[in-house]
Amino acid sequence: MIPERLETQRLVLRRHRRADAPRLAQLLNNWEVVRWLAQVPFPYTEKDALDWISQTGRNWVEGRDYQFVAVLKETNEVVGHIGIRMDVPRPTGELGYWFGQPYWGLGYGAEAARAMVAFGFLELKLERLWATYLPENVRSLTVLSKAGLMPDGFKSQEFSTLKRTVNCPMMAIDRAEYLQTATMAETRS
Ligand SMILES: CC(C)(COP(=O)(O)OP(=O)(O)OC[C@H]1O[C@@H](n2cnc3c(N)ncnc32)[C@H](O)[C@@H]1OP(=O)(O)O)[C@@H](O)C(=O)NCCC(=O)NCCS
Repeated sequence: MIPERLETQRLVLRRHRRADAPRLAQLLNNWEVVRWLAQVPFPYTEKDALDWISQTGRNWVEGRDYQFVAVLKETNEVVGHIGIRMDVPRPTGELGYWFGQPYWGLGYGAEAARAMVAFGFLELKLERLWATYLPENVRSLTVLSKAGLMPDGFKSQEFSTLKRTVNCPMMAIDRAEYLQTATMAETRS
């Protein structure tokens, strides 16, 4: 059974609910967030959020992707999103995430990404996890590095947001690399 709720020090990562739509629309209807994402409509409405929530619900059941909202434990506010899209039929997955602009720079991105990497390897049994980012997205590069992903060439990505295809840097981590670093961390503690 795939867990539908994960915890980090400050965050709960849980499946989307329809009641999250207004909050997702509030946080995502911001070009400073959307401009870094490949396939998000802009302006972003509550209807877009409801469509996304329905789609992610179906995809979860079908094992196509596992998307979570990030909720602050302290205040119960939804502050962002993180998830893994499966490369069916290969046992590999793509990591994707965004946080609302007021919550940037507080380490939530790295905290959630570390939890999602563990989820990918320990629960989804992935062989490899990868992500791409726009070349100027230094914040995202930092998050991916902190979660253990390493540079792995480039991948051409269609950005409907920017109406163009971009040759994006790719970062990745293999199962063996993840298990090795997890074992080393355990030995140290
Ligand atoms: C990318 C994103 C998720 C990062 O989330 P976050 O919670 O701010 O991430 P963190 O706080 O864990 O780390 C951000 C790092 O970027 C660094 N950073 C902040 N502003 C920066 C800037 N202008 N230039 C370079 N680095 C910057 C921070 O110092 C931090 O590194 P540090 O912890 O070593 O100091 C968030 O900025 C976001 O949602 N951006 C828009 C959507 C997006 O880019 N999604 C990813 C698409 S690939």
